Amino acid sequence: MTSLRTLREAWYPLLFDDEVKGSRPCSAELWGQPLVLFRDARGRVVCLEDACPHRCFPLSAGQVRGGELQCNYHGWRFDGEGRCVHIPSLTERRSLPQAARVETRPTLVRQRVVWVWAGDPSAADPSLLEVPDFPPGYHHMDQRDEFECHYALLTQNAVDIAHFFLHRRSVALPFPPMLGSFEWSEIQWSDEGLRGELTLADARVGLRLQVEARFPTTVRIEADVRGVIRVISQYHITPMSPSRSRGFSFIGMNVAGSSLVTRLALQVFQPLFSKGVSEDKTALRLQQERVEKGFTSRAAAASDRFLLTYEKWRRRLDDGRLWHAPGARAPE
Ligand code: FES
Ligand SMILES: [Fe+2]
Repeated sequence: MTSLRTLREAWYPLLFDDEVKGSRPCSAELWGQPLVLFRDARGRVVCLEDACPHRCFPLSAGQVRGGELQCNYHGWRFDGEGRCVHIPSLTERRSLPQAARVETRPTLVRQRVVWVWAGDPSAADPSLLEVPDFPPGYHHMDQRDEFECHYALLTQNAVDIAHFFLHRRSVALPFPPMLGSFEWSEIQWSDEGLRGELTLADARVGLRLQVEARFPTTVRIEADVRGVIRVISQYHITPMSPSRSRGFSFIGMNVAGSSLVTRLALQVFQPLFSKGVSEDKTALRLQQERVEKGFTSRAAAASDRFLLTYEKWRRRLDDGRLWHAPGARAPE
């Protein structure tokens, strides 16, 4: 990369591909912009601004008919390019108004996920999309969740290894050493992201843990216990509004190189992971409430080093256009 992009000039996951179906359009938000997704007449997932150009009614409250999106207020219909193709109240001798057009957003479907470009549509570049990847021999589970918090709180949560404490009765149960003390290695910084390695004080465990924060809001954590248990967790975080974020989790595992054992391990882990996510949802909602009341983080420890570095990195790339609302200020 040559020049610094802001976090808006990127692809963000909004939905799983198979969620976009039938006559109900899907509503979403990306960096404060209301969006609507549906499948057009060619079966492609398309994404439009979620406001009818007629009277600003949300198009997501309408219906999909024959690959066209019909607004529920006066029944205007739009195709996948955002063009108005029908107005029920218009006699045949009248033409459709030129301005009856909805902005579209570039969309890609990769790995069963619908990704939408958040920046200037003319700058959308599919080569900038980073999709989750796992080495051969891994099995993985994928999950989408909604969090009632600013995206910065959620990304900080994802790089915050010490918050395993919150998950001592869920995700941390199979990995009790993770509740112990640790040191960070040097943290490597580039415009593309950060990378650090963590060493547990208790060396007997034989755990290697690498944490990466990647442009724009991806967090990838690779854990390796003596080359036998390998877990890669990749999180993609989508800023929706100043108090709402969406998180996609892709958890890959390889246990003892055995497909059977790995699939069993994933089955055991899945409910613990779901419990962990609900613990995060509660914690982040409560944290957001405090931040909205004007509280800021006033203290940090050496074990927070990655999180603090991440926050510096993020602020450099967030143009802050949307985030003046209460809650925008993340912990120092
Ligand atoms: S507001 Fe959508 S058709 Fe009138
Ligand atoms: Fe968590």
